[in-house]
Amino acid sequence: MSSFKITLNDLNDTQILAKKIADSIEVPMIVTMNGDLGAGKTTLVREIILALGVTGRVKSPTFTLLEEYDISLGKVLHFDLYRFADPEEWLDLGFDELLDGNNCIAFIEWAERAQVLLKCTDWKIDINVINENMRELNINGQTDLGEKCLRKLIKAVEAS
Ligand SMILES: Nc1ncnc2c1ncn2[C@@H]1O[C@H](COP(=O)(O)OP(=O)(O)O)[C@@H](O)[C@H]1O
Ligand SMILES: [Mg+2]
Repeated sequence: MSSFKITLNDLNDTQILAKKIADSIEVPMIVTMNGDLGAGKTTLVREIILALGVTGRVKSPTFTLLEEYDISLGKVLHFDLYRFADPEEWLDLGFDELLDGNNCIAFIEWAERAQVLLKCTDWKIDINVINENMRELNINGQTDLGEKCLRKLIKAVEAS
């Protein structure tokens, strides 16, 4: 398992990284987002989704649990499991089949609330708040595909 750490000084840095992430990830892929409330999970995912070519509003799935988008490669599924009371809800709601049946990139906030996901996560992204605008990001590649995409991302960051 390899990992990559980067400091983001402000929202602009987050946006720049989001574009590089959009260019590095592949379908199908599962990315979990970890960090406190307000760390910037939704903000980063929103920027990645926009960089993948989605036009229009990218809403936080806080209340809906899931927002879906069509992209040229397939689908983007953006989950927020904060409201889960029980890890079984993931299976009860049919979310597992949704991941299996679609050519999709899934971003999952609060994935620790559905532990079944832990085994199949390609990237685990941890966001730490340094101060109002600064964030530290850790990306862990946890599968062969995750490692491959992480190498692409590291190359893109090093080239800039
Ligand atoms: N560098 C940064 N990257 C991401 N968000 C940032 C950054 N600097 C400030 N923010 C702010 O932090 C907040 C993050 O909120 P949000 O993305 O909803 O967090 P979460 O989904 O982790 O609860 C937003 O108000 C965003 O504008
Ligand atoms: Mg959020």
